[in-house]
Amino acid sequence: MSTVTCFAPGRVELLGNHTDYNEGYVLSASIPYGVKVSGSRREDGRIILSTELKGEILRFEVAAGESLAPRHEWTDYPLGVVHVLREAGYPVGGFEATFSSDLPAGAGLSSSAALEVSTILLLSKLFGISLPGIELAKLCRRAENTFVGVQCGILDQVSSLFGRRDRAVFLDCRTTSVDTIAFPHGVSLLLIQSGVPHALVGGEYNERREQCHAAAAGLGVPFLRDADSAMLAAADLPDIVRRRAAHIIGENERVLRTRELLLSGNVPAVGRLMSDSHESSRLNFENSTPSLDLLVSLAQSTPGVHGARLTGGGFGGAIVALVSRDSANAAGAAISAEYERRSGHHAKVLECDLADGALVLNGFSA
Ligand code: GLA
Repeated sequence: MSTVTCFAPGRVELLGNHTDYNEGYVLSASIPYGVKVSGSRREDGRIILSTELKGEILRFEVAAGESLAPRHEWTDYPLGVVHVLREAGYPVGGFEATFSSDLPAGAGLSSSAALEVSTILLLSKLFGISLPGIELAKLCRRAENTFVGVQCGILDQVSSLFGRRDRAVFLDCRTTSVDTIAFPHGVSLLLIQSGVPHALVGGEYNERREQCHAAAAGLGVPFLRDADSAMLAAADLPDIVRRRAAHIIGENERVLRTRELLLSGNVPAVGRLMSDSHESSRLNFENSTPSLDLLVSLAQSTPGVHGARLTGGGFGGAIVALVSRDSANAAGAAISAEYERRSGHHAKVLECDLADGALVLNGFSA
């Protein structure tokens, strides 16, 4: 049986932190690291998933007819995709798939979405399913919400599917309309992992989500997307709920301003808004950590860096810094050396440009 190979990248959230499940706006990009999967159909109905970890092959099998249940490991992401496709009526039978990744897990760069998206592209090709990209993203999000048990929004899956080289992805999470915007020349991104992994399967993410919905209810709107700073100033909300709302409302405003600034190529102003976003994470949303704060402040005082913030869910993971391309190397080295000296943790630096989204690398012609 012919083999199909697909690649799905990780993503970097440029601005718009926790706005997705509040029906707000996000700016993100695909990055040139991700998950590659090669697979083929099996006519015996079995599902065999494998990957190599530290020189050892991990192999996982589901027998024909066996019902799919989460096992709280990496296989939940591909199996979740199988589950939602079958639930939606698509004829996904047995198959085998081998995954490899150059995307660090737990770094806040969406290795989970890359696993889901690579799987859904593979299965679409193997079982003749033809769906628009946004529907694929929604199914992957559903897999994560209902099978893995993380109530994430749609940012990660859309960013992995819709990225384009040298362009940022602008997503309106209410309408799910997606657009891309040219990224200014001469700048690149530094993704710096704190060396302290995050675990979104923990309770903080879902707790923030509930607090945001409580804030919307307190403001009398369906979602925080529908609120603005004036409404917040006039409302009498408990302190925590008010700060959560301030973060989301501020992020939505910053995304819309950044979209304009990107179009006019105003890199320093984009950098300042990224740094404002981090400050709001730190004080209002409380999803930063001392390690991320240290990395951000070191980045902000490094020559060539225009701004920096945590990226993704928070509570660990990575920061993103906007940096002049010709200073990127030196800046990354200086930040990581000083971080290691002060924290004792090793920071891993990835310098990257904005990359293309997920694609089928090769497959049989149907
Ligand atoms: C994680 C989630 C996304 C989004 C970000 C925060 O990456 O998976 O849906 O909520 O956090 O913006």
